[in-house]
Order: sequence, then structure tokens, then C-alpha cells
Amino acid sequence: TSANWNTAQNVTLSAAANASSANGTRAITVASSGLTSVTVTASVQTGGGNPGTHVDNPYVGATGYVNSDWSTKAAAEPGGSAVANISTGVWLDRIAAIAGSSSAKGLRAHLDAAVQQDAANGSTPLTIQFVIYNLPNRDCSALASNGELKISENGLNRYKTEYIDPIAAIMADPKYAALRIVSIIEIDSLPNLITNTNIAACAEAQSSGAYVQGVQYALNKLHAITNVYTYIDAGHHGWLGWDTNFGPSAQLFASTARGTTAGMSSVDGFITNTANYSALTEPYFTINSTPGGQTVRQSRWVDWNFYVDELTYAQAFRQRLITEGFPSTIGMLIDTSRNGWGGSARPTAASTSTDVNTFVDQSRVDRRIHAGNWCNQSGAGLGERPRANPATGLDAYVWIKPPGESDGSSSAIPNDEGKGFDRMCDPTYTGNGRNGNNMTGALPNAPISGAWFSAQFRQLLQNAYPAL
Ligand code: BGC
Repeated sequence: TSANWNTAQNVTLSAAANASSANGTRAITVASSGLTSVTVTASVQTGGGNPGTHVDNPYVGATGYVNSDWSTKAAAEPGGSAVANISTGVWLDRIAAIAGSSSAKGLRAHLDAAVQQDAANGSTPLTIQFVIYNLPNRDCSALASNGELKISENGLNRYKTEYIDPIAAIMADPKYAALRIVSIIEIDSLPNLITNTNIAACAEAQSSGAYVQGVQYALNKLHAITNVYTYIDAGHHGWLGWDTNFGPSAQLFASTARGTTAGMSSVDGFITNTANYSALTEPYFTINSTPGGQTVRQSRWVDWNFYVDELTYAQAFRQRLITEGFPSTIGMLIDTSRNGWGGSARPTAASTSTDVNTFVDQSRVDRRIHAGNWCNQSGAGLGERPRANPATGLDAYVWIKPPGESDGSSSAIPNDEGKGFDRMCDPTYTGNGRNGNNMTGALPNAPISGAWFSAQFRQLLQNAYPAL
């Protein structure tokens, strides 16, 4: 107006974040008749952490998020500070874990802490790993990690709307766009549809379609966020290593991915050995060893499996997945948090026995009683420290199961987390068909799954391999 024509006016330009990772510019011109127009060019510059980009391997050139909830417990144990700064997985193991509690950070609090750690590490990107773990009828073939949702109680819908939707909404917040967010999708779910449908809860997971649809829903929501990476659980060699399980599992993973909006490209890779104890490498024999002229495949330990360790399994499984239609950009992760098998019981050379069972039992570094044992294993140690590109086809060795967190209680303990008592966690149990009716090899006096188990953590430190 004639009264305020010479008072400066501020004009603020703002733009909402979108999914594009490209740089862009817009020219904005202020013009009025009789005046010289002024043009301002606004630029959107990606970089400074590459907001919204998606790289092939999120672990390359990045540091890993240290979860202070875990780190504090680890550091409080004698000698624990040697590993307390290692990145471990954050398990979103129930709806309430999204909000968090007074003793455990929620999803936003973890991401906010990750933004701070990212700011503190200079221009290096930061990778943060979440385990998506709350399918209805979760862990259907075991009891120790049963969850809160049931298929028969509208569990699949609740999974979508009360669990995946809020997680995806938080991860998509633009303030987290520079983080590389790895999501580990539903441990022990799809493999159970291949091997364990003789168990009612797994049969229901299969016949209802709940596991497949739940995983597809998670992939659709998470893959849509450019800086989120998806890795599907692929069991471990002692579960899917027989060819009757290997091919059918790869086919199920392929058909599941094909049914997502983005198809095969909704999957960045697969993870093996999550929360398990299978040795990364057996240094003193391979699947082709023939002590006394007999294949190790016929030993009690190998039991006709086609793999004796996790690295050979993960690499072969990746090839099979590519054959089934996955792109060759998929990379494998191996959870090496507790598969170290060092300490005084570790063999130092191949056995010279010509008896195939004696040979394998004396040569193997995996000291479990049976490869089907999975709960709080006696004698285990911390495994390879996390690192990127450790071997052909592998994106990284990772610590997804936080060492020191129990796999399950050794006797029944009432709780409000849906956790049952699985006798595979009871050191006095004599086993079932899935561990060849052997003793469980579980440590005594264990708390419920996820709770801190000091004695186990100390053993893991003691038997770390590579040694600390
Ligand atoms: C438990 C989760 C826990 C996770 C990591 C799982 O077995 O069910 O509650 O967060 O292990 O320790």
C-alpha cells in the first residue's frame, strides 16, 4: 500500500519431503507492473547424508548404531566394555515396543539417538537395524518366543494396523531420511511353513495365509520408504540345508516377494542364523570330506545335510534365490553374535579318526550336542564382529541377537509378553524329534526370552572366537 510500500516483506519457501533422491531447482519470480522483477532460484540438494537414497549394500562405508539399552547392560558385566560399542539389533517384539517403556527406548527414541550418532560420526552414514517380529502365531513351532497376536483373534489385521503401519509411519519421518534403516523381517516365520506344518499353530499360519500376507504387507510398507532396507529370514543350515527344505523355501520366498507391489525388488537380501548358534565356518572338514572313505554326510552330526556351516549355506542359498528369480543385487547377512565357538573346547586340528562319527565329533568347532539345539547353548562364544562385505555374496556379518539376551526360560516363568516355556530351554529335557531326541545343551537358570542373562553373557565373552 502507499503506507508500507518500503517495508521489507519476508517470503519463506518450504517444500515437503518426497520419495525422490534427485536434486532439483525451481525459479520463483516476484513481479509487479512498473517494477523490476526479482527471480529467486530455490534448490533442493541431496547429500550431507544423502537423504532418501537407497544403496546396494547399506553396511558399506557406514558405522553401526549402538543401542545404549543393550550397551549399558553389556558394559556392566566384567570385561563387557570390550564389546559394548558394537551395533546390535533392536527387536520390535510387541506393539508396546514401538512406544517403548521406562526401561527400553521406543522406535522414535532409537531413531532420534541414531540421528545423534550419525551427526557425531562426521560425513559417514549410519546403519540402524530393527527386527520386525510380531506376526500372529509367532514362532509357531516353539514356545519361548510366542507373541501377543493370534490368527484366530484378528491377529493379521492387528499386525497390519497396530504394528506395521505405525512402524512405517515413524520410519518415513523425513528427519530420519539420512539413516540407513535395516529391517529384518520376521524371524522363523516362512521356514516354519516348509518344515513344521505338522504343528497346529504353523498349519494355521499356512492355511490362513497369515504369515505370507503379513510378510508381504511388511515388505510393501517398508520397501516404499527409500532409506529402509529389507532382509527376510532364511533360517540356518541346520534347518533348511537339506534339499527337501532348501528348494521349497527358496520357492516360497520367491512367490511371497512376487506377490508384493514392487515384486522381487522389494527385497534387499536375506539373513541366516538369526539368534542361532551354527558355526560360520568349520575349518577342519567340509561337506566333501571322506574320513575312512565315508562321506561326512552320513555322520550323526551332519545327518545327510548338504552343508556343514553357515557361510557355505548362505552363499549357496543366495545362488538358489537368484535362480528362483531374485535379482543378483540381493546380499546375505549372517548373524554372528553367538556362533564363535572359541575357548578351551575348540578343536585345533582335524581328527585323524577313520570312524566317520568320531572324525566329525572331534573335528567340529560347533560343540552343540545336536545342530537342532537352539536355546541358550552351553559352550557358545561371541562370533565374528560385524563388518561389511566379509565374503562373496554377503552384505555383512551382523549382531542381530543382542548377546546376553536369553532365548527362553529354563522353567516356566509367568509373564505378560506372551512368552511360553519351551523345554528346549530346559537343561534336563531329553529332546524331541527336531533335535534327534538329544539333551538340549541349554544353560540352567535362564530368564524369559529377551531378558538379560548375565551368566550367558559372561560365557559368550569367555568363548569368543575370534578371541576378544
Ligand atoms: C525374544 C524377544 C527379544 C529378542 C532379542 C527373542 O527371542 O522373543 O523378546 O527381544 O529375542 O533378545
